[in-house]
Amino acid sequence: MLEVRHLKKSFGTLTAVNDVSFSLRAGELVGLLGPNGAGKTTTVSMISGLVAPDEGSVLVGGAPLAGDTDPKKRKIGLVPQDLALYDELSANANLRFFGALYGLSGTGLEQAIERTLTLVGLADRAKDHVKNYSGGMKRRLNLAAGLLHDPDILLLDEPTVGVDPQSRNAIFDNLEQLKAAGKALLYTTHYMEEAERLADRLVIIDGGRVVADDTIAGMRARVPSANGERVSLETVFLALTGRSLRD
Ligand SMILES: Nc1ncnc2c1ncn2[C@@H]1O[C@H](COP(=O)(O)OP(=O)(O)OP(=O)(O)O)[C@@H](O)[C@H]1O
Ligand SMILES: [Mg+2]
Repeated sequence: MLEVRHLKKSFGTLTAVNDVSFSLRAGELVGLLGPNGAGKTTTVSMISGLVAPDEGSVLVGGAPLAGDTDPKKRKIGLVPQDLALYDELSANANLRFFGALYGLSGTGLEQAIERTLTLVGLADRAKDHVKNYSGGMKRRLNLAAGLLHDPDILLLDEPTVGVDPQSRNAIFDNLEQLKAAGKALLYTTHYMEEAERLADRLVIIDGGRVVADDTIAGMRARVPSANGERVSLETVFLALTGRSLRD
């Protein structure tokens, strides 16, 4: 569904993403894991077309994305790390705005708004101003905005930051449903427990480079366990990068 080949991006003298490659299949959730500044958001931004790569390519369904007007871009949905919502507008009005950006209008748009608000459990708050939403509700609306145009590929950049356990579970249930519907999901996080719960496979990046790309079982098998106990992903990360995920 999605293939990322040799992506590279520098900001001045800093190489934020350095030769990153991985792929994502339909019905699969891949966790993109790494500490602050590892290059996760820059990678996601290049896939979604917000940032132009210095080198490398992004392939959707086997064909390279060619610029902003490529219709294949519509297959990608982005749930950005920084909330992109208008506080002074209702949830409905926010989604109408984002839907229009994707060329949705009329009944198609109204149906998409209803479908996504129901999915994230906000249908009964559709008319409320976003400024009156809690942090978790804003995160869920942010998710709805990324899903409006029913993308096959969903890029989620730390979608649960500041979300209480209940909303977090609601988001996880939404993601499980999307996965079961055959969507391909890339999930950026530095929460190991989220990765363990959701991901079929992990891509660990550090200093802009992929240091491991494997299933969770495969990751664990890389690190010898001291006394037959299950190796935690935190331990795996430490062994692979020499530092803790939250450094
Ligand atoms: N627009 C930019 N201009 C200059 N430097 C940038 C820019 N965007 C990112 N960087 C730098 O690139 C590196 C990678 O940043 P990025 O946001 O991709 O990391 P991240 O893995 O998403 O981190 P976090 O977990 O904190 O979200 C960092 O050192 C960051 O300061
Ligand atoms: Mg980030």
